[in-house]
Amino acid sequence: MTRRAMAAAALLFRSIASGQKRDFDFYPDFRNVFTPKARAGNPSITGGEILRQYAASLRAGKVPEIEIERRLGLIRDHRPALEIDMWNRVYTGPEPEFNQAPNAFLMQKAAGLKPGVALDYAMGEGRNAIYLAQLGWEVWGFDQADAAVRIAQQRAEKLGLRLHTSAVKDADYDFGRERFDLILFSWAMPLVPVERVVGSLKPGGVVVMECAADYVGRNGMLKMFDSLEITQYERIKAKADWYNRMETEVVRLVAVKTR
Ligand SMILES: C[S@@+](CC[C@H](N)C(=O)[O-])C[C@H]1O[C@@H](n2cnc3c(N)ncnc32)[C@H](O)[C@@H]1O
Repeated sequence: MTRRAMAAAALLFRSIASGQKRDFDFYPDFRNVFTPKARAGNPSITGGEILRQYAASLRAGKVPEIEIERRLGLIRDHRPALEIDMWNRVYTGPEPEFNQAPNAFLMQKAAGLKPGVALDYAMGEGRNAIYLAQLGWEVWGFDQADAAVRIAQQRAEKLGLRLHTSAVKDADYDFGRERFDLILFSWAMPLVPVERVVGSLKPGGVVVMECAADYVGRNGMLKMFDSLEITQYERIKAKADWYNRMETEVVRLVAVKTR
């Protein structure tokens, strides 16, 4: 077998092992290339109009009508499954498209905190959870991408560390009440009512968050954590941990639960 054939076979094995569906192959391109282009051309475009444009572009490319209907049906009715599959592909793909070192802002902030109980919200493959566990934190974390959570657990096991993980959507995660000394949002944001998350922070607990400015919109991060005392907020141009590691507008926040 040639090297290239071996690499292709390894990739196919990884995608089957992580449960990726060949039927969903079209989705990353629709989500990450077609949709941003459509939005750049018309920032107020609706989801329905994006689908109409997508169908038209497939027709122009002579894609059979039955395949167009299949894709539109999946996008309309099975978006969560498509999303999980796409993220699993990111984590099991041949080229890491993100910073695999811990988030630099987290490293700065964790240096000033006494280790306690931490939640890594949408933890991905655990680069930050593992970092915190190495510092002595008891780390809980979840992510909808089951392949990512498996990678985190395998890495933790190799390092002799314990992580409490769940492969679930945030909507299905049991946050509990006043459990965490630290909640980390690294290139992630709450998609459940933020009170559920803030309620799981202990008095004195801290939220550390970093993401691209366009995740949260103008002042979105400040509004989101308005019930806490925001002790640091910055909006800077920096190399993204994600977004193909582009230079982009990054927002960072530290907020404390004072009562
Ligand atoms: C840009 S990645 C960041 C991953 C990790 N926090 C990091 O910094 O490496 C965003 C992650 O959010 C996860 N995610 C998106 N929506 C989610 C949801 N509703 N519930 C749980 N995880 C979600 C994705 O699966 C993905 O792993």
